[in-house]
Amino acid sequence: MMNTPESRVPLIAGNWKMHKTIAEATALAQAVRDGISNPPPAEVVLAPPFTALAAVAQVLSGSPIQLAAQNTFWERHGAYTGEISPQMLVDAGCQYVIIGHSERRQYFGETNDTVNRKITAALSAGLKPIVCIGETLKEREARETLGRISNQIQEGLAGLTAGQVERLVMAYEPVWAIGTGRTATPQQAQEVHAFIRQLLQDHFGAQVAGSLRLLYGGSVTPDNIRELIGEPDIDGALVGGASLKADSFLCLAALGQR
Ligand code: 13P
Repeated sequence: MMNTPESRVPLIAGNWKMHKTIAEATALAQAVRDGISNPPPAEVVLAPPFTALAAVAQVLSGSPIQLAAQNTFWERHGAYTGEISPQMLVDAGCQYVIIGHSERRQYFGETNDTVNRKITAALSAGLKPIVCIGETLKEREARETLGRISNQIQEGLAGLTAGQVERLVMAYEPVWAIGTGRTATPQQAQEVHAFIRQLLQDHFGAQVAGSLRLLYGGSVTPDNIRELIGEPDIDGALVGGASLKADSFLCLAALGQR
């Protein structure tokens, strides 16, 4: 592969999930903005809930920290009660959008097909998708992990060009590691990350596979990030619980470099 791990800028993203009022989100974003070194050690992204996006965008304006939404719909506008389009997210100040998080797949019926539509729509609106994939505990125990990952990539990225895939970030989040305190070992994560990069190389070429950033997510904390990011195919983290407090998230951002 042409790109080395060192050529990929690490990315640390905080997924706040369904937490924080507008006032709380504003305060947390301010604390992260004020505590981050300039230039930041890694690329840093915050993903507040929809209701706080515009307020957090104001806080982050002029800072190097980027803004992400946690989901999007694929249509631009129309009679889709309760949905938010990628264009609306751009309007609210987002640069990134998380797509296909396992909680969306598990509780809201998202499939590889809806993930695929959302990726295409987000890209055409100019957003950078953070595409989540990962196996359940049952799948891991049945030794179906790599098959599951392969299926999520083949169907989720179906029809995309190499140029489109190059603009993605991907996150490997084993479902059994999310919010459980049971982090994948660096070896377990690296094995899947290397497999993902190989699949990307087979489908989209060495240039794309070598430059695309692969994040790990699932119980990442300041105590385990160094060993995870020490692996050659782990380029950062998608963090839930530990992103909800400024001190632990700032610690992750500081440690999240190669
Ligand atoms: P935790 O860091 O709380 O395990 O959540 C991970 C996650 O789902 C990030 O998207």
